[in-house]
Amino acid sequence: MDLGIKDKVALVTGSSTGIGKATARELAENGCKVVLTARGRDRLDAAVEDLKNETGSEVLGVAADVSSPDGPGSVVAAAVDAFGSVDILVNNAGRAHAGGVLQTTDHDWQDMTETKVLGLVHFCQAAVPHMRRNGWGRIVNMSSVGGIYPNPKLTISHALSAGINNLTKSLALDVAPDGILVNAIGIGAVITDNWANNMIPKARETHPDWADLPDDELVARLGAAMTPVGHFGNPEDIAALAAFLASDRNRFTTGATIEASGGADRFI
Ligand SMILES: NC(=O)c1ccc[n+]([C@@H]2O[C@H](COP(=O)([O-])OP(=O)(O)OC[C@H]3O[C@@H](n4cnc5c(N)ncnc54)[C@H](OP(=O)(O)O)[C@@H]3O)[C@@H](O)[C@H]2O)c1
Repeated sequence: MDLGIKDKVALVTGSSTGIGKATARELAENGCKVVLTARGRDRLDAAVEDLKNETGSEVLGVAADVSSPDGPGSVVAAAVDAFGSVDILVNNAGRAHAGGVLQTTDHDWQDMTETKVLGLVHFCQAAVPHMRRNGWGRIVNMSSVGGIYPNPKLTISHALSAGINNLTKSLALDVAPDGILVNAIGIGAVITDNWANNMIPKARETHPDWADLPDDELVARLGAAMTPVGHFGNPEDIAALAAFLASDRNRFTTGATIEASGGADRFI
């Protein structure tokens, strides 16, 4: 399927690894010029080199923290400077935060809100004027399936994901007349560094019988037990859906949160 996005400019946040990097690769493979951004310079530079070599597309890396007030604006400005516009925005930067309401602190809520929600809002505010000028734009917000089916072991992540799903619909209604489509992906368990660091220790606690298994076997057993399709996802599974939502082949889906979880509503 030709996605119709050759030469579009795609900005993917949190793209030095995991789902963000896979999504940036998928967009580059479909002809986009891509802008990668993350905090850590070394891993970002390595991702830029990887994607240039793998796809032959133009790739720019801009180090920034999405939670800093001027981070999003400076990344969008660098993208416009290098490539002339931003046509596609994928808000992906973030991480999971484990714990129930009673274990969370004000600092946890503030830190996660600034990263997951305010960062996303600031990127939308900076990028939408460029999309409006072109009469075409696509925004994909990486959320969690827990925004629909909350799990008390991940309260902050899931409450903020519910907010992202809600503001996705709200923004979609605002910008639909400008040719801009906005959707979210309710991600389930996808095996990345983020997932491994946060979830494997939790899974050993919740499944003490499997606590001594090596990581890969523990993950395979959990995936088979907890996912209707029998396995957890990989970053490319999410990237394929994100690329479609971000494409010109998507002309009628907006304001949606699409579950990409292998049918599961929880994974620990
Ligand atoms: N994997 C899953 O199962 C799963 C499930 C539900 C939702 N999600 C969501 O999907 C997104 C991607 O997850 P992932 O598993 O691919 O994560 P990951 O492998 O840990 O990658 C996260 C990326 O975001 C960047 N990042 C983190 N905080 C940032 C900040 N403040 N400013 C700029 N960049 C930042 C990281 O680079 P630096 O650290 O160098 O900044 C990295 O490039 C996250 O928002 C996550 O919450 C994932």
